[in-house]
Amino acid sequence: MRTQVAIIGAGPAGLLLGHILHQAGIGFTILERTSREHLLGRIRAGVLEQGSVDVLAELGLDADLRERGLTHHGIHLQHDGERHHVDFVELVGRTVSIYGQQALVAHLLAEHDRLGSDIRFEVTDAAPAGLDGSNPTVSYTDGGVATELACEFVVGADGYHGVGRRSIPGITAFERDYPFGWLGILADVPPSTDDLIYALHRDGFAMHSMRSLEVSRLYLQVAHDESIDDWSDARIWDALQTRLGSDGWTLHEGAITEKSITPMRSFVVSTLTHGRLFLAGDAGHIVPPTGAKGLNSAIADVTMLGRALVRSIREGDETGLAGYSDAALSRQWKVQQFSQWMTDMLHLHREAPDASARDFRYRSQVGQLEYLFGSRHAQESLAEQYAGLPFTTE
Ligand code: FAD
Ligand code: DHB
Repeated sequence: MRTQVAIIGAGPAGLLLGHILHQAGIGFTILERTSREHLLGRIRAGVLEQGSVDVLAELGLDADLRERGLTHHGIHLQHDGERHHVDFVELVGRTVSIYGQQALVAHLLAEHDRLGSDIRFEVTDAAPAGLDGSNPTVSYTDGGVATELACEFVVGADGYHGVGRRSIPGITAFERDYPFGWLGILADVPPSTDDLIYALHRDGFAMHSMRSLEVSRLYLQVAHDESIDDWSDARIWDALQTRLGSDGWTLHEGAITEKSITPMRSFVVSTLTHGRLFLAGDAGHIVPPTGAKGLNSAIADVTMLGRALVRSIREGDETGLAGYSDAALSRQWKVQQFSQWMTDMLHLHREAPDASARDFRYRSQVGQLEYLFGSRHAQESLAEQYAGLPFTTE
């Protein structure tokens, strides 16, 4: 078997890259470890930066987003019930969109089905080889049959646990673990807020997001080793009521249809490139979810990588590919610092050595939020980063 670009992973990064290549008339095959049903069932991120929305529009992949996405003009930040709106439109003239990753993946996949794209599900043992030369391959097992895919380029869009990163000799990583995670729920209840609410509270962080005008998405900071079995629906709503509570505002409760706990991590590799192999998305970096940057970073990577691959394959111009890793990592480190800053500012840091140190820490976080509420400069900076940095390989 032969293709031009072998893409490992059919998450948002792999699926979107496939569309970018298709539109430039470049052949690709996507190899995915899980089943189509599993892929469509994964509930993850929910916020698209304006740059991500623009990319989907440019590619003509925004029909579902335009129908179902919710345009948001800012976010609410809160501590101990004190709520403040940060208006992105007024501050930096930009918006974000609420559109679930699950909906995006379903739409990208449906469009691939319409095009008859070559996507292979439930393949195992994917293994890139020959990456130093001009004839790389990816071997894999499909339905028990060992197969080899010859190609010009390999893209590891295979997430944090993928094989792409492990195929780069000498690669190193920079990382930070957090001693907490997010308990996320989906609930059948109309959102109780217009824009998302991010709240710092003495009991820990809480957030109110949404998926539609009928479905709310809410999160609670929990310890990293907590079990979802210890969180009954009643306990979850109690904690959300306490942490999100604000005078004159009501959090409406509804049936919880999904709940799970996600650990939090910051992680960046030393390089996204080895010979003919390129990493994109979670394969190369992970952020804690507080700034809503994971999915957007994956879209930024494949937009830059896609343009570079098209220039190389169509025009023989390798400069984009040569600069891809540096350009994507340079953007990623800015995103990393923003996500870490939002996470540190809004979460309870229980690991401080004693009650006094914890109190000092909490009060300085409140000071940071109060500074933000009163400073247009600080709000502009937050708005600029939340709404999204440009995607560029130049
Ligand atoms: P993925 O979506 O991980 O896709 C990689 C794909 O590669 C997967 O389908 C996987 O099955 C496949 N794969 C892996 N290994 C192989 C292999 N060896 N062979 C073939 N296929 C393989 N971000 C936010 O901004 N906000 C959130 O609220 C948020 N919540 C999250 C919750 C969870 C539980 C997780 C895990 C992530 C969350 N994220 C969130 C991050 C965001 O979802 C990711 O950044 C995004 O999915 C990255 O897309 P990707 O395509 O790079 O990777
Ligand atoms: C959602 C997730 C985030 O990480 C975030 O910062 C905002 C919203 C969400 O799932 O809706």
